[in-house]
Amino acid sequence: MSLSPTFDTDPVLLAQPFPVDFAWGFAASAYQIEGAASEDGRGASIWDTFARRPGAIADGSTGDVACDHYHRYADDVRMIAALGARVFRFSVSWPRVLPTGTGAVNQPGLDFYQRLVDALLAAGVRPLVNLFHWDLPQALQDRGGFADPQVVAWFTDYAALIASTLGDRVKDWMTFNEPAVFAFIGHADGIHAPGLRDWPTAIRVADNELRAHAAAAQAIRGLIDGPKIGVAIDVNQVAPATDSDRDRRAAAQWSSARDAWFLDPLFGRGYPALGLEAHREAGHLDGVELATPPAGDLDYLGLNYYRRDSVRARSDRAFDFEVGAMPGSEQTQMGWHVAPDGLRDVLIELNATYAPSEIAITENGAAYPDTADANGLVHDEDRLSYLARHIGAAGEALAAGAPLKGYYVWSLLDNYEWSLGYSRRFGVIRVDYDTQQRTPKDSARWYQRLIARG
Ligand code: FCB
Repeated sequence: MSLSPTFDTDPVLLAQPFPVDFAWGFAASAYQIEGAASEDGRGASIWDTFARRPGAIADGSTGDVACDHYHRYADDVRMIAALGARVFRFSVSWPRVLPTGTGAVNQPGLDFYQRLVDALLAAGVRPLVNLFHWDLPQALQDRGGFADPQVVAWFTDYAALIASTLGDRVKDWMTFNEPAVFAFIGHADGIHAPGLRDWPTAIRVADNELRAHAAAAQAIRGLIDGPKIGVAIDVNQVAPATDSDRDRRAAAQWSSARDAWFLDPLFGRGYPALGLEAHREAGHLDGVELATPPAGDLDYLGLNYYRRDSVRARSDRAFDFEVGAMPGSEQTQMGWHVAPDGLRDVLIELNATYAPSEIAITENGAAYPDTADANGLVHDEDRLSYLARHIGAAGEALAAGAPLKGYYVWSLLDNYEWSLGYSRRFGVIRVDYDTQQRTPKDSARWYQRLIARG
């Protein structure tokens, strides 16, 4: 897709609404980039298991090697710094530091994150540590995983271990990335690890994530001075496919049963009434006893935003609807509807509804079928346009009063895109998976100019 004719991608102009110290950065996650899956004492995660299940991953691949970031982190940090980024959001692999999830610590695994943090700080980049990007230790899944209430204690002990190891140098924390995706896509849809298809389990998982977040946040606050703790919630724009009452009801139901399902409790309001009604009618709460989870006590709300989801009712029954891109809309290679105005509106709505003290766009970016030229260069005008338009929309939300403090591109590197394997490239840096060579794409150079304002 080419640039919209009226849209200006001039990075200097786009940077103007943002303060000079705005936290521009990159986001990535452990299983998607680290590789070294069985090195230095790392235990297995549910993604190691799931990726080996026949048919689970589009190209049959695993994260065993991924971008080999475990060995190449120093070069990667140099690139992050050279591009001018102020923040690098990465995740800790729980089974790398606690191979069986609890108990014995794997010191070489912890040492890796010490080296990574030290390298970032030495390069002038702020580390943002995310504790959970879906790679639960397999040993804990074998004990019931996130559906077992004991996970609150397991997760809190793990959070305390990482906070006491890195907390003297790291102020920016994230407990969970996209708890809805982990709970619902992993436990109800079966498309992500652990690959279960049971709604009551998914609802229990979501509830335990909210409780684990609250307990871990409290533990971190007890261990380090003045941490900034948040969660990354994926809120895409939800819109009814048509103006019909049915579609509007379905869209409201979906947004309440999915997005507000996490946001309302995090902001101290308990589960939303409409979502409760929808889940109950659909049988998702059968056998589940839900009590109000504790509030999130967030220093910032992380927003992962990618697209507009249109909701079309199939019937009047609860949860009987289709969610996806509007036919004929501009779409990325993921089939996601490109809607920068949705980012502006979601930011403004989140601010109006929940009044978070700060918001960071913790993920935004796009997959396109990049082709490298003879020199390995990628002229990714489509990705550059996507980023430019979304940053423009973020600037509008900022001007409209949203307390936006940071923006992290998903992603630094092309990487392992979960059940789509290596078939989708989100990086602003190309990775040649045969040689592990990294080459900044045009979008990376453009982002560098935006950060530098010239
Ligand atoms: C988000 C995930 C991230 C990546 C992007 C494309 O849902 O947090 O790991 O897969 O989507």
